[in-house]
Amino acid sequence: MSETAYPPVSAHLDDVEAARTEGRRKMDWAAQHMPILEALREEFEADKPLSGQRIAMAMHVEAKTANLVELLALGGAEVTITGCNPLSTHDDVSAALDTHENITSYAVRGVDEEGYYAAIDAALEINPTITVDDGMDMVAAIHEDHPELLESIVGGCEETTTGVHRLRAMDADGALEYPVFAVNDTPMKTLFDNVHGTGESSLATIAMTTNLSYAGKNVVVAGYGYCGRGVAKKAAGQNANVIVTEVDPRKALEAHMEGYEVLPMREAAAKADVIITTTGNRDVVVEEHFEVMNDGVLLANAGHFDIEIDLDALDELAVDRYEARDGVEAYELADGRRLNVLAEGRLVNLASPIALGHPVEVMDQSFGVQAACVRELAENGDAYDAGVHDVPDELDRDIASIKLDAEGVDHDTLSDTQAEYLDSWDHGT
Ligand code: NAI
Repeated sequence: MSETAYPPVSAHLDDVEAARTEGRRKMDWAAQHMPILEALREEFEADKPLSGQRIAMAMHVEAKTANLVELLALGGAEVTITGCNPLSTHDDVSAALDTHENITSYAVRGVDEEGYYAAIDAALEINPTITVDDGMDMVAAIHEDHPELLESIVGGCEETTTGVHRLRAMDADGALEYPVFAVNDTPMKTLFDNVHGTGESSLATIAMTTNLSYAGKNVVVAGYGYCGRGVAKKAAGQNANVIVTEVDPRKALEAHMEGYEVLPMREAAAKADVIITTTGNRDVVVEEHFEVMNDGVLLANAGHFDIEIDLDALDELAVDRYEARDGVEAYELADGRRLNVLAEGRLVNLASPIALGHPVEVMDQSFGVQAACVRELAENGDAYDAGVHDVPDELDRDIASIKLDAEGVDHDTLSDTQAEYLDSWDHGT
């Protein structure tokens, strides 16, 4: 791999060997619970479908992601990876990945903004044929700063809702220059990762970080999309009183019909013991809300970027600020109230000091789809125009079938008569 000004992860660590050993241990544990990647691994190792491909990735670099990265390398690709959030990298996993002869990892936890973008630039020095993004920062860097790379890129994959929103906006402006699969939007991803993954891991991380219970507390969930639905359901399952805030009347109605209290944020904030934002939007919790919050409230964000809770405004209001626990920053206001912000307002389930991200089984599905899409680009990339593309339905179904086989779950299939009936329009009463 080429020499870059920004060095791979090992140059940033004191005890690289210990980090590699621990990172590999984490990867091995995750791999034991990733039957989809295991099945794909056999195919990829045998067929080498990614031979000759150069893949640049910007993802949350932790054990599950690392198993996807290794799968792509085993499939014949040369891979570079960096983080997609300054706080979500596990340095030990990053170091373990970097030992693979076909993988270079630039991901380091706690980089500043300059380091974050320098690492993306370094990963792009591979001159990629395929990109894999979580949030679209890599696609943006290519289009804005390295347009010369567009020539050789066959296509890309995008992991999360915010990235797909950004890509669709770019596509609508005619600015997206290569095809990208909206991996986030496919059923095998959204219905499991966004709903169950975000619900379970956000709540677990908040509970572990604070050592507090949800039972009997008012938990405000901002946004009742896929992620919010999961957070709300699982918080209710832990005996919280769930309050939902929404801007979309249909989502607000859905939350209401599920039995949750629906309120504007101004009223919800005054009742909250915990607020979790899951909107993918900005300025969801702002000064007027801080003004009415209870002493001791917990503020956490599970959306992709750290702009859902206005921390600049909170900082202005605060007369004191201190680390109340690892991963919890208390902002003390003039009247003595303490508002506690988790993980610096970054996505709590990945950026908290103890965060592990989604459960392994969930990411096995998401990354199974990612791997299938990367293979599709390598094999049939020319068939896709520049723009955002849905994941081909048969790829998504294949991943579901692999998982069901691994779980030993059998299910019915359509008979010919049933299939014909469902495709027809002339059978009435
Ligand atoms: P979604 O589009 O299904 O849901 C977002 C919801 O927020 C929508 O219903 C929308 O109407 C609502 N909303 C927008 N502005 C609002 C406001 N000001 N107040 C209240 N509600 C508002 O999106 P999804 O899939 O739930 O993703 C949400 C965010 O979470 C995205 O940024 C996504 O990238 C991120 N994400 C985070 C994960 C994690 O591990 N923490 C995993 C998957 C997605």
